[in-house]
Amino acid sequence: MFKVGKEEVKAIEEVVLSQKYFRFQGENVPTNTSQCEDEWREYLRASYCLLTTSGTNSLVVGMAAFGIGTGDEVIIPSYTFVATASAIMQVGAIPIIANIDHTLTLDPNEVRSKISPRTKAVVAVHMDGLICDLDSLAKICDEHNILLVEDAAQACGGEYCGQAVGTIGAFGGFSFNVDKVISCGEGGLLVVKDEKFHEQYLKSLVTHDTACQFGRTLKNKISSLPKFFGLSTRLNEINSAMLRVQLQRLPEILNELRNLKSDLMSYSESIGLTVMKGHDDQGDIGSVLHVRCQDPVDTMEKSKVLLAEGFKAGPPYLRPAHACWQWFEAMKEGAYFVEGLNPYNLSDQTYSYTKQDFLSTLEILGGCLRLELNFLGDQERVELCKELLKKIAAK
Ligand SMILES: Cc1ncc(COP(=O)(O)O)c(C=O)c1O
Repeated sequence: MFKVGKEEVKAIEEVVLSQKYFRFQGENVPTNTSQCEDEWREYLRASYCLLTTSGTNSLVVGMAAFGIGTGDEVIIPSYTFVATASAIMQVGAIPIIANIDHTLTLDPNEVRSKISPRTKAVVAVHMDGLICDLDSLAKICDEHNILLVEDAAQACGGEYCGQAVGTIGAFGGFSFNVDKVISCGEGGLLVVKDEKFHEQYLKSLVTHDTACQFGRTLKNKISSLPKFFGLSTRLNEINSAMLRVQLQRLPEILNELRNLKSDLMSYSESIGLTVMKGHDDQGDIGSVLHVRCQDPVDTMEKSKVLLAEGFKAGPPYLRPAHACWQWFEAMKEGAYFVEGLNPYNLSDQTYSYTKQDFLSTLEILGGCLRLELNFLGDQERVELCKELLKKIAAK
């Protein structure tokens, strides 16, 4: 989260004093949650938006609503937060990992090589605000009649060719946990662009709040659906009130982040550093700068220069749960949060993942210096950062 102030406090205070914490207050009665969803729909130009308790839950609810489940395979990148894989397993499907390329996002050729008759979806993850090659991925998905899903947890406000990320695939998920560009503590958003997926949206509504089938508020809206048990992943009014204020701040934050990143990118390139880029420089949210290094040793040496001055820098795999080999251990038969429901136990296929299959990812991540641009508005830090980049370039 980059900015927070008294406006958030006031919005939360109003909810607390009203004692109306629940997202539903009667049929067609606007609440902070419903208005926040409307505001997101307008901002993203999407047909449907559904707030949830987390980014992970937005993916779980979306996958369930779009029919991804037992026996299905879902292709994900080797560089993503563990939640992308865990959400897939929570609906009973199997994550199939494809290597990234130097854009730090899914390599479309790798995706092609992983497609099997069981493939149901590809999840494009816009890591660190870098935008995926959505044209190529959409083409592959169309050819094979599979779903393109966007995990835009780390790219809120990002764009691909002028269109909001999260609205390009069949559905997208955002996260509003504290590490994200805007936050309400914890929260998530499921986004569905196309009106043709109205039925899936209704299913996601029930899935995110199983109890809504038994109350009056949504009775008419969801009457076409058969009764089924879902989850309880509703966002509450306190979080929604805060998120509404944060959403208002988003354009300004993005503007500042993009200006800062573009300044640091031009500077880095002017002193001979190579910046690693995604597939849409304008649409990149600007939260992280990635400098290409020669090898892991070079990356560590350069990182130390920035770390010594308190910058958050290092190869991406030093983060605890973002490189696929960090979560292999949980992707196999055996331990699972619901005993007996482990998708690997239930599958008639055998799946195994080894680090050797991801040597190219290891090489790419090892040769990448990831610098978080968490010093918005602090010109002294910007100048210091430039000084240190110059030192690094001379190494
Ligand atoms: C790429 C990615 N996907 C999904 C998530 C899950 O979001 P949450 O922590 O809100 O469940 C995160 C969170 O950091 C993420 O980075």
